[in-house]
Amino acid sequence: MPRLLTVTTPLLACLVISSFVAAASEPATQPPPATQSVPRDAAAARPAKDRYVIGFSQCTVKEPWRVEFNKRLIEHAKSNYPNVQLDVLDADDKTEKQVADVRSFIRRGVDAILISPKESAGLTNVVKEATEAGIPVVVLDRDVNWDGYAAFVGGDNKLIGRAAGRVAIDLLGGPGRAKGVIYEICGGLASTPGQERRDGFHEVVTQEPGIRIIGGLDCDWKKDKAYSVMQDALKATPQIDLVYAHNDPMAHGAYLAAKKAGRAEDLKFIGIDALPEEGVRWVRSGELTATLLYPTPGAAGLDIAMKILRGERVDKRTTLPTRVFTRANVNQGGEEVK
Ligand code: FRU
Repeated sequence: MPRLLTVTTPLLACLVISSFVAAASEPATQPPPATQSVPRDAAAARPAKDRYVIGFSQCTVKEPWRVEFNKRLIEHAKSNYPNVQLDVLDADDKTEKQVADVRSFIRRGVDAILISPKESAGLTNVVKEATEAGIPVVVLDRDVNWDGYAAFVGGDNKLIGRAAGRVAIDLLGGPGRAKGVIYEICGGLASTPGQERRDGFHEVVTQEPGIRIIGGLDCDWKKDKAYSVMQDALKATPQIDLVYAHNDPMAHGAYLAAKKAGRAEDLKFIGIDALPEEGVRWVRSGELTATLLYPTPGAAGLDIAMKILRGERVDKRTTLPTRVFTRANVNQGGEEVK
């Protein structure tokens, strides 16, 4: 049985309904402007409805960031869109299940689909299928290999990778002088965040002749996998100065392995996500050296889906900001990264 979490809210305050109707009735008489990013038949001339059903396909809830993502999205839906029924399906970290989940939304004829894909290639076709069925699809956090969908919302993972690279260089002696061995632990390399966090980091760090990057194994974003590759790396490699992991759970897994081996004090650890109760807390406690914020995209994604359903214009891509947290700035809320 698929895990279906339905957030159903009662019919609403007339005010809210009438604002929906008013907004949604406009585009029927006005053709969308040329810059409109949403496929015409998916968004234009959409009749106003009293209730909307939106399907959200989440790739997994095995990682804390995903749990937080769902929580914030569901709360946002409840407090802002009482006329929306948000159906959440968890693909249990499996591409095939996620394809089946999206197809079930298509069969049911939901009004819009939000999807945070497990990986790019395997989810591309079903995003196309939904779009071709006239359902606006908003892709969240991880991209697919086709951009004919309605909109994308996520962080700039290249920028985050580059910023992590600059932090690593500073920790290893500063630009032009940095020296050391970096052990890299990758997230899912079949996904765009894994690829871009690696590419951005390498772009910056390979400018430093004194730094060598080793590792680079795909640990699928998982703390236990990172723990075990780090255990092996510590046995095989006498010198590791810094660990760069593509998310905080993996950075913390590597820290725990180094602690067990009695080497945690000699190493620095950089992660990504910066959840208050994870990465930020670990920076505060000194377990991680730095983390970079990767905001959850659900609330912004739902706002965009609702605009599309009302026939309003939306940006094709919405990029969420990042911040860097270190011991020095963690109590001031980190520092913005540009
Ligand atoms: C959770 C997660 C986050 C990471 C994001 C990348 O599944 O691994 O930790 O930042 O996905 O898509």
